[in-house]
Amino acid sequence: MTIETKNRKVLEFGSYQQACEYVADTIANLIRNRHQEGRGCVLGLATGATPAGVYKCLVKKHREGQTFAHVTSFNLDEYWPMNMINPQSFNTYMRSHFFDEVDMKIQNTYLLPGMEPLENIQQICSAYEDAIETSGGIDTQLLGIGRNGHIAFNEPGTSFQSRTELVDLHEQTRKDAAATFGGLENVPRQGITMGIATIMQARKIILMANGKAKSSVLYQALHGPVTEELPASVLQLHPDVTVVMDKECAAGFLK
Ligand code: F6R
Repeated sequence: MTIETKNRKVLEFGSYQQACEYVADTIANLIRNRHQEGRGCVLGLATGATPAGVYKCLVKKHREGQTFAHVTSFNLDEYWPMNMINPQSFNTYMRSHFFDEVDMKIQNTYLLPGMEPLENIQQICSAYEDAIETSGGIDTQLLGIGRNGHIAFNEPGTSFQSRTELVDLHEQTRKDAAATFGGLENVPRQGITMGIATIMQARKIILMANGKAKSSVLYQALHGPVTEELPASVLQLHPDVTVVMDKECAAGFLK
């Protein structure tokens, strides 16, 4: 089922796998179109459970001949402090799910660092913003949504004007990560994240949500008031958003 408005497409798929295939096809088409225009493409990438299946599909495409040699990527966020070789780091996630499996050039994969000392963070964040601008800007940004409505690590209450910065993680976000870290006490209290204003500059946004647990927050984000208390609601103001959800998410969503 597809619901389309001026700036938004909402797509429901019968399964998570189908949703992931759709997103992977969209990315492959973008790479092809940019290639025909004689330029590379710039992707904004997310981590977490939601996009894992998309990376699987993209790796499969690579094995069947798709090249990623002209793709530049910027990841949304990283825990801080966090050693990049730690199994829970988003750096590790990206290498194991995607970068190590395709032909991307490592110098074109931008990730936020988890081990920089506090005094360097501001400079690192503004260099990240500059690198996005120098790349020509993000063509397509992949996003998941937190159960509290966060996008990247932009938690409820974050200004819509925010730029890449060090932020405190919401308790809900830390609780949701507790199992991965073997207990809440091991989950970092902070993260470095692309800002909301940074995300909103992407030319196109694909927001993915799966399962019942994301239904109500997704519904609120798309149909409730646009408010900094629900960061994902800012996407109502973006000119080109595609929402991709599976049947389980949609079932609760439409009630
Ligand atoms: C990850 C990120 C987060 C996740 C969100 C949903 O890079 O930016 O905002 O997208 O927490 O996480 P999952 O997909 O694990 O439910």
